[in-house]
Amino acid sequence: MKLHPPADVSLRFPPGFVWGVATSAFQIEGAAIEDGKGPSIWDHFCQVPGAIADGSDGDIACDHYHRWSDDLDLVASLGVNAYRFSVSWPRVRPDGDGAWNEKGLDFYERVVDGLLARGIQPYLTLNHWDLPAELQAKGGWANRDTVHRFVEYALGMDARLGDRVQAITTHNEPWVMSVLGHKRGVFAPGHKSRAMAMQVSHHLLLSHGMALNALRAQGCKSKLGIVLNLSPMHPATNSLEDLAKTELEDGLLLRWYMDPLFKGQYPADVLAHLGADAPRVQAGDMDIIATPMDFLGINYYSRSVVSAAGIWDVHQSGLEITEMGWEVYPEGLTELLLRVHGDYAVPPIYVTENGGAFKEEKRDAHVHDPLRTDYIARHITAVAEAIRHGVRMEGYMVWSLMDNFEWASGYEKRFGIVHVDYATQKRTLKNSALWYRNFLHHQTARHTISDTAQPKIVDSEWNTVALGA
Ligand code: FCB
Repeated sequence: MKLHPPADVSLRFPPGFVWGVATSAFQIEGAAIEDGKGPSIWDHFCQVPGAIADGSDGDIACDHYHRWSDDLDLVASLGVNAYRFSVSWPRVRPDGDGAWNEKGLDFYERVVDGLLARGIQPYLTLNHWDLPAELQAKGGWANRDTVHRFVEYALGMDARLGDRVQAITTHNEPWVMSVLGHKRGVFAPGHKSRAMAMQVSHHLLLSHGMALNALRAQGCKSKLGIVLNLSPMHPATNSLEDLAKTELEDGLLLRWYMDPLFKGQYPADVLAHLGADAPRVQAGDMDIIATPMDFLGINYYSRSVVSAAGIWDVHQSGLEITEMGWEVYPEGLTELLLRVHGDYAVPPIYVTENGGAFKEEKRDAHVHDPLRTDYIARHITAVAEAIRHGVRMEGYMVWSLMDNFEWASGYEKRFGIVHVDYATQKRTLKNSALWYRNFLHHQTARHTISDTAQPKIVDSEWNTVALGA
């Protein structure tokens, strides 16, 4: 195990760099049928036998709907200057196309005002997967009408909160909704059709572009962007088969989204591969999708190693892996950022999610999670490295503020830097949270005091760490 003491806090981040923690509505809020909230496709999916590893659901989750104020205090205690959260569409507009729910809107008003009162910038995501179930009954994202419902939703949220939120993200990880939700069927809504999945991806991208145009026409003041889950793809061997498969997988994950967003076209090789399963695209769609953005969000967890014969085993010796079975590969983040920066005319980039599911190692007065601290420290170093090479980075956010409902994995996989005891809802800062707080404290300090005068910090898990220049 390679533990990196976080000496790299000496790495330079631009003044004003945004440091945050991230969550999403379905994963933390609970209150699934309270105050007029409608069901989402995830409420329904959790009822499917076998869909969720531990048979759990989002009915209570972290009970954040009731504990939001204490939770925002927790966020503030970390010293971050941003909090990324999502709005539950069926909480604010239960049917997706009918009446708006004032109580739901009020909740997000409280959260946004609560963040601002604590000096934290709100980063709002509109669609973190929890589509109103009523819209799914009408075809969901496979139905082009949903695009228009999404635009209405975006405009409604802007009218209510746009004067106070720093940024609005249209969609979180369209690849996941498309492929895991509609091709592999392992996420809501649980379909297994490649053609449907590709049509869904097109509608997500189209609704993103339409929403951007509509929001700007309405005078929206927030920065606008999208969040993609991206990974470098590496061939398992140098065989022609592995190289070809790697190129295709890269096309399906990265170029399928980046090319339309930044070049106004789908990649030709992927279209050829899809054949009759390629999406139906109407005249003008591609120009709408390529509407310029103010920022690009990237969620990064790991690389992918591609083997045409399917022989790559992440559990082989020598590889560090998380509880999700994802390889710890921080250098992949630098590689990815440099690639995106080199291949596309991108706006400023945020790492909008990064973190790991790890078991706590021991518990005394502290929750010891050294592997998570190590993971985060090394990925922050990877971001600094990208900045050093000229990538325009504006922020980094840890996934996640607290342990929460990890989709099909239920509550078994814990990503939080804050521990949640689900029996009591007690929150406890893990050592990774204490480390992040220390790190941020000294990041902020370095912009206000001279380098030579910088102190040393002592972390509960690390030795004394020099804050060099
Ligand atoms: C991302 C999701 C986020 C969380 C992390 C672990 O794909 O955006 O909600 O589940 O993975």
